[in-house]
Amino acid sequence: MDRQDELSIIRAAYAKQILAAGGVDNARLQAAFGAIRREDFLGPGPWPILRWPRDYLLSPDTDPVYLYTNDLVGIVPERRINNGQPSWHAHLIHQASPAAGEHVVHVGTGTGYYTAILAHLAGRSGRVTGIEYDSELAARAKANLAPRPNVEIVEGDGALVSFDEADVIYVNAGCTRPAQNWLDRLADGGRLILPMTSDQGFGASAPERMASAGAVFRIERRGHDYFATWISPVAIFPCAGSRDEVSERALAEAFAKAGWQQVTRLYRDQEIPAERCWLSGPGWCLAYS
Ligand SMILES: C[S@@+](CC[C@H](N)C(=O)[O-])C[C@H]1O[C@@H](n2cnc3c(N)ncnc32)[C@H](O)[C@@H]1O
Repeated sequence: MDRQDELSIIRAAYAKQILAAGGVDNARLQAAFGAIRREDFLGPGPWPILRWPRDYLLSPDTDPVYLYTNDLVGIVPERRINNGQPSWHAHLIHQASPAAGEHVVHVGTGTGYYTAILAHLAGRSGRVTGIEYDSELAARAKANLAPRPNVEIVEGDGALVSFDEADVIYVNAGCTRPAQNWLDRLADGGRLILPMTSDQGFGASAPERMASAGAVFRIERRGHDYFATWISPVAIFPCAGSRDEVSERALAEAFAKAGWQQVTRLYRDQEIPAERCWLSGPGWCLAYS
């Protein structure tokens, strides 16, 4: 059998395994993970693969089979910037549910692997705007995604770059507050996937520590209302420009008192009694109802 045919079979098995590991039943998403070649986004091998509880271990050789596991792979390992865990992304992308024809904004595109998965889901009638802060990574993403006409890569701060109204905003870096831009530019019916992390939230690997240092919320806009649901614990690389000392402290205090799983709403510019807020900042709060 031709090597590419062999890899297609391996990729199909990987897609099935990682959706199962993420607890996701979604045929379109499984097809996307089965179609996109992870090796096209991670540079030439051998690749630094994060092997918990140890550190990065280089794959024994350049056979792409080593990329079809549920592991994180270093894209800038010296800064601990990784291509994220496939089953975790499967869960979050399923929650964002990008449909064909939609506009998806991907903040923290890295070298573009998950941007390509999102582009596959948005289809030819949809499109993805990938935003990456690091100029070298943005250049790599541009090159990797050049064959995909429905993807545009922008180098910059995802909290500040302006973009067309989005049906999905998929944020892949840890924030202490939602960017105004994301809330403003979310379409009616749009979904924002927002990882909130305290300064304990990066490098936390023990599940119990991770659970109290980071939380991912799914925010759905309906008219002027924003409905919020906790969807996952998280430890992730910090989002440049979406953190500051005051909101860092407020988030650490919110994690200390727990209750993030009871959050149901994100309110903007409304007076919400303090006892109903899990976390508040200037002009916004995450609240219990
Ligand atoms: C955890 S990595 C994920 C990369 C990619 N999603 C993947 O899984 O391969 C987080 C990425 O977010 C980028 N980043 C951090 N702050 C950002 C910001 N304000 N705007 C855009 N990208 C940002 C980092 O440079 C890094 O590439």
